[in-house]
Amino acid sequence: MRLFVAIELSDEVRAALVEVRRSLGGWSKSIRWTPAEQLHLTMKFLGEVEESAVADVTAAMTSAAGSVGAFDLTLDRSGCFPPKGPVRIVWVGALEPSDALVELVDALEGAMEEIGFARESRAFSPHLTIGRVREDSSDGGLRRAVDAVSVRKVGQRVSSLTLMASKLSPQGASYSVVHREALDASGT
Ligand code: 2AM
Repeated sequence: MRLFVAIELSDEVRAALVEVRRSLGGWSKSIRWTPAEQLHLTMKFLGEVEESAVADVTAAMTSAAGSVGAFDLTLDRSGCFPPKGPVRIVWVGALEPSDALVELVDALEGAMEEIGFARESRAFSPHLTIGRVREDSSDGGLRRAVDAVSVRKVGQRVSSLTLMASKLSPQGASYSVVHREALDASGT
């Protein structure tokens, strides 16, 4: 199965993300929008994993989740990947001022490394992918439009991690929940 660990989003956060999409409605021919029910924050992409290794993956999640308590995250500004040139990804950033999100990613990277998943080489950049762009020929216009969107600064409590399976098909990806792991409840 193709697996990744993510944070699921509240309905209110999803609604705010759909508003961002609406503000960029004029660009909808260029952007393939993430369906609202698929919006999430990726914490660790695992890739193809044998069925027999899923128990190890959930045990690693238990270990990571147990080291960090629940926290709040808030939507931040919108932006594009890569940072220059034609846009491929349109995202909304997530802010978490107490560093709990980064601690959780570090714990997850460490626990997954112990069972054989390589650490992510790129710095963690918490973002919610709201759209993907196949070909951006707007000469900077799309990027300027994304940068100009005003994002409603909605927050949500994060109290669990979710292991998701992604099935790819010509119609796009479809995600299903494989496992949920609560964060450490002792300090909250
Ligand atoms: P994205 O949100 O930045 O697009 C499921 O495919 C999730 O895993 C996506 O949300 C995607 O992150 C992330 N993902 C897919 N392929 C990846 C890869 N090769 N490396 C890191 N993350 C990946």
